[in-house]
Amino acid sequence: QATEPAVTESAAGEYVPLRWRSQEWFDNPSEPDSTILILERYLNYGLTREELQSGKPIIGIAQSGSDLTPCNRHHIELAKRVREGIRDAGGICFEFPVHPIQETGRRPTAALDRNLQYLGLVETLHGYPIDAVVLTTGCDKTTPAQLMAAATVNVPAIVLSGGPMLNGWYRGERVGTGTIAWQARDDYAAGRIDKDEYWAIVKQSSPSAGHCNTMGTASTMNAVAEALGMSLPGCSAIPAPYQERPSIAYQTGRQIVEMAYADRKPSDVMTREAFLNAIRVCSAIGGSSNAPWHLTAIAKHMGVDVGLDEWQEYGHEVPLLLDMQPAGRFLGEEFFRAGGVPAIVRELMDAGLIEEDALTVNGRSIGENCRHARTTDREVIRPVAEPLVEQAGFRVMTGTLFDNAVLKTSVIGEEFRARYLSDPQDPEAFEGSAVVFDGPEDYHRRIDDPELEIDEHSILVMRGTGPIGYPGAAEVVNMHPPARLIRAGIESLPCLGDGRQSGTSASPSILNCSPEAAAPAAPLALLRTGDRLRVDVGKGRVDLLVDAAELEDRRAALEAAGGYRFPPSQTPWQEISRSMTLQLGDGMVLEPAVKYQ
Ligand code: FES
Ligand code: MG
Repeated sequence: QATEPAVTESAAGEYVPLRWRSQEWFDNPSEPDSTILILERYLNYGLTREELQSGKPIIGIAQSGSDLTPCNRHHIELAKRVREGIRDAGGICFEFPVHPIQETGRRPTAALDRNLQYLGLVETLHGYPIDAVVLTTGCDKTTPAQLMAAATVNVPAIVLSGGPMLNGWYRGERVGTGTIAWQARDDYAAGRIDKDEYWAIVKQSSPSAGHCNTMGTASTMNAVAEALGMSLPGCSAIPAPYQERPSIAYQTGRQIVEMAYADRKPSDVMTREAFLNAIRVCSAIGGSSNAPWHLTAIAKHMGVDVGLDEWQEYGHEVPLLLDMQPAGRFLGEEFFRAGGVPAIVRELMDAGLIEEDALTVNGRSIGENCRHARTTDREVIRPVAEPLVEQAGFRVMTGTLFDNAVLKTSVIGEEFRARYLSDPQDPEAFEGSAVVFDGPEDYHRRIDDPELEIDEHSILVMRGTGPIGYPGAAEVVNMHPPARLIRAGIESLPCLGDGRQSGTSASPSILNCSPEAAAPAAPLALLRTGDRLRVDVGKGRVDLLVDAAELEDRRAALEAAGGYRFPPSQTPWQEISRSMTLQLGDGMVLEPAVKYQ
């Protein structure tokens, strides 16, 4: 565990450090030889001994930007402003890299590296002379990974978001990253556009530096970090190229020095109340289905008992207030101009839905920070009394097919509701036949096979894509109907799977099913194409309508065949990760890591 800097309060009411953690390295009278050796190495790029022995805190900047992580790359520039803030406030800055994570480029999946970046950052913060740290976040997994590490080591830490890209535009319409790629792919599959136009649309969606400009996982997790109280108010929504971005980078640098002196640690900020605020804000902004398992992971490492139960209890009832793609129309620039996260918090406060006393990094409560926040564009952010969708949070599902899963209800389209959810006796339930795929390769190979038994009442099932089956859990549950059904007007079918989802679809997607097919004794491994499934959105259940004796026979046959098959590990980390990961319902954390609090 990190040693805490000893801090006391002077007669004048100021915080005065007795001794920083970093002084064990740089200014340790009981170990003069090793102190000299360490100083000698750190002086060789121009730092002076006087600086390192000045009694000022050493502030780390965890640099997540690189050529491999273009979504966070502008943090390399922003770090200069962070350094200036740190200097001006009386700290010494050490910038260091974290393991790269880029959502779309990392194979087999970027989620595999969330826990690797976490482990690396824990070791860095624990093993080097760092008194407090600025976490540079952006692309999807970079935010939870760094918050998890800050929770474990529990040194003062503050999030600097990189901010979203500018809005994308194509032929006078907003085109958002991710969302438009799925739509353009459907249009291409349906023959409405050619390959050149498909490329042109996708390219226009990403016009500048920054993370994805929709309310995908990146915008969601940065908003969640702010709602947790871990960044300065207003930080997350500022678009990457705006002047406010380097300005808040400077303020963040100043703030972390104040936090070091105040010894304000993640455990002071990331309390149960803070997590409840994060869950409600996530619901109100139409946040990504990756948020529940990431937030569960952060909570587990912080030692706070918040999991899927809280998403159902506190999150589900919250209405959708933000009109932003993929749930709505606008993109990151409008969210920022309408007031960003502080405006959302203020709307929720007005409805009594915020734990106002939760402390934030600036030493004030979230209530104090947001009491005077104003929504400046009612097209973009609605009041709780006039939401876009009622009860917009995730529906936590259970039943006979899995212990838990999440369903994003806010995006279920009218076409689907009319086609499926129309039984007046049971308006929120439907049945369908499973069409089962074992991994994305199997899906791509067979989805357009004319022999496939599939029609407009099918439920697409993806398995073998959980934390063990597809190490890290693949983002592949958003499957599309075969081209022949799309041409016939069936644009989407319900999907269910043990992996995750990128983007959204207009039909229900039941995601993160835990236990995954590859886990011991998972019912999902017994499912076969043609089995009937009953989905009751209202009751939060998915049931497999196959009798118990038949399932017993299948279980025996599967065990005789050596269990559910999945591809072998390709790297040491894949094998290590598979051997100690918990399921998505438990945040997909590394089990042995949880006890280090
Ligand atoms: Fe990195 Fe979207 S791919 S933020
Ligand atoms: Mg609980």
